[in-house]
Amino acid sequence: MVKLIGVNKINTSVFISGRGTNLKNLIKFSKKKNSPIKINIVISNNKKAYGLRYAKKNGIKFKIIDFSKKREINNLLNVLNFNNIRLICLAGFLKILSKEFIKSFKGKIINIHPSLLPKYKGLNTHYRVLENNEKFTGCSVHFVNEKLDDGKIILQKKIKIFKKDNVKSLKMRVLKEEYKLYPKSIIKIFNNY
Ligand code: GRF
Repeated sequence: MVKLIGVNKINTSVFISGRGTNLKNLIKFSKKKNSPIKINIVISNNKKAYGLRYAKKNGIKFKIIDFSKKREINNLLNVLNFNNIRLICLAGFLKILSKEFIKSFKGKIINIHPSLLPKYKGLNTHYRVLENNEKFTGCSVHFVNEKLDDGKIILQKKIKIFKKDNVKSLKMRVLKEEYKLYPKSIIKIFNNY
């Protein structure tokens, strides 16, 4: 295993669009001694994203990017390269990254999704899971490729669905697992290096 302590930590960027509780959790994780990552910059496509306050609170730079503008994406690529970013964690990021962007960071972009992929890609997962009377659900961390919620799975956590569960309770129970799974997955990636 590569020793990744202190200055050797992997420069990481987290991309968000909204609430940002996974970002909050990743910031907490990044501060731990055994964490392989350092979060250098947070990117959001939404200037009103609640999660931006976790970046501000922790003195982490952030940038708002309009992903429909090529010039802004090129500028973002420059910023990420300038900061020597070697890992991008998507956390509730609702934009689809272009093929070119993914190519520039091949094998270095990961995402968390609240279902047992390949089942229930896309939005409203908990609602669809309940509609289909599934017995289990969970969350997945995977490498990002050009397709939505696709790419090699790094880790998954399965949980049982209770009769009394609704969208809200399921969301909360899955989120709790997400906060454990994302750090675990990051550790797994760098242990395998
Ligand atoms: C999480 O459920 C994540 O799996 C999904 O979007 C949600 C983001 O939540 N991709 P938050 O913004 O991290 O609170």
